Amino acid sequence: MATLTVNGETKTVDVPGDTPLLWVIREHLKMTGTKFGCGKGLCGACTVHIDGQATRTCVTPVEAAEGAKITTIEGLGGDHPVQKAWIAEQVPQCGYCQSGQIMQAAAFLSENKSPSDEDIVNAMTGNLCRCMAYVRIKKAVARAATEMAG
Ligand code: FES
Ligand code: FES
Repeated sequence: MATLTVNGETKTVDVPGDTPLLWVIREHLKMTGTKFGCGKGLCGACTVHIDGQATRTCVTPVEAAEGAKITTIEGLGGDHPVQKAWIAEQVPQCGYCQSGQIMQAAAFLSENKSPSDEDIVNAMTGNLCRCMAYVRIKKAVARAATEMAG
């Protein structure tokens, strides 16, 4: 059994403690906004926030997240400045990587209120996009930073 706090709600799931958090989120809690990409911590598609930190859930055992505050893309609210910037810049192509990109960007901007272009590139470099939307991703992160600063 694992007891989790996901998007402000307490959830109990009957799984072994070493089950990847990604499987719990998608298969048990039926929150499918968080994606499976590589399963090895290399692409960022499965990123959520654990206590505010961008975390790869495919390589995080569920037992490591007990007692922490987990936020998935569903919990970001839809009105987050990063989500608004993503829409304004029309970032997604196929969309598959985008939940992870947005969660990575939101965690980054919560810690860096005035990022340089280099800061943005460095923060987002571990989130891969097969559609090569990198230019729009960078523009959207910069737009969100401006919005959040204002
Ligand atoms: S699916 Fe987790 S980093 Fe790729
Ligand atoms: S938008 Fe298609 S993988 Fe990023």
